[in-house]
Amino acid sequence: MKVQTSITHIDKDGHPVIHGMALARLVRDHSFVESIFLILQGRLPEAPEQKMFDALLTAAIDHGPGTASGQTSRITASAKNSMHTSLAAGILAMGERHGSAIEPAMSFFYEHVHEDPAALIGMLKEQKVRIPGFGHAVLTHDHRKDMLYAVAKETGFYGKHCLFAESIFEALNKVSSKVLPMNVDGAMGSILCDMGFDIKLARGIFIIARMPGLVGQVYEEMTNDVGIRRMAEEDITYTP
Ligand SMILES: CC(C)(COP(=O)(O)OP(=O)(O)OC[C@H]1O[C@@H](n2cnc3c(N)ncnc32)[C@H](O)[C@@H]1OP(=O)(O)O)[C@@H](O)C(=O)NCCC(=O)NCCS
Repeated sequence: MKVQTSITHIDKDGHPVIHGMALARLVRDHSFVESIFLILQGRLPEAPEQKMFDALLTAAIDHGPGTASGQTSRITASAKNSMHTSLAAGILAMGERHGSAIEPAMSFFYEHVHEDPAALIGMLKEQKVRIPGFGHAVLTHDHRKDMLYAVAKETGFYGKHCLFAESIFEALNKVSSKVLPMNVDGAMGSILCDMGFDIKLARGIFIIARMPGLVGQVYEEMTNDVGIRRMAEEDITYTP
């Protein structure tokens, strides 16, 4: 198998080099967040980028056992599966309603940023299209958006995509039957657009961010070992 890569190389003395930088230097002088940025972008972040990227990863680190990925990881662990099987199950539970809306959200912001929000929402409402990055199953306000936008303003990454996302929020909530907050995918997605990230990285960035949370949840499930989890019989209705 022939592979061409610019990411990692092991030099003739056995030293790993990442995007031209010795791993030893990364270990000694840089943080994990800077190293993730280097892997994804091919260069170390500037100070404001580092702060923003760190905030993005931190904001999505965990959102409790009620989420689809949290529940699925825990159920899988409760059936006595390994750490890696339980994590993989959690990742596979991510979809466009949880954990993966960040990619379509970025796509939506990049594509429509120069359009009139009210007219766009009016047209999409008629077509019954759900806007990725908005709405939440249990929250009417997602505080993670406020936290991230505060850092975006401080670091200079509150740009046209964040402004557009805010105006989409306004337009959407004028016509919606239910309060639809800008959720973490919408906030992260709009900031990643203002940072110039490629859409293809979006889901990967969310997974990187959520991994510590899922590892912690699986570990807790294994340690507490409350037995196998299953739906309560009273929640199941048989309809032959
Ligand atoms: C997250 C989500 C699944 C939560 O759904 P929910 O709270 O159970 O909402 P419901 O499915 O009951 O929908 C309630 C109403 O709001 C509308 N709605 C919900 N989210 C919407 C969105 N993002 N854009 C437009 N309308 C939306 C529904 O069409 C429905 O309208 P109706 O009553 O006129 O038929 C939903 O908001 C959604 O699909 N969002 C987009 C994907 C996303 O951002 N996911 C990441 C979540 S963190």
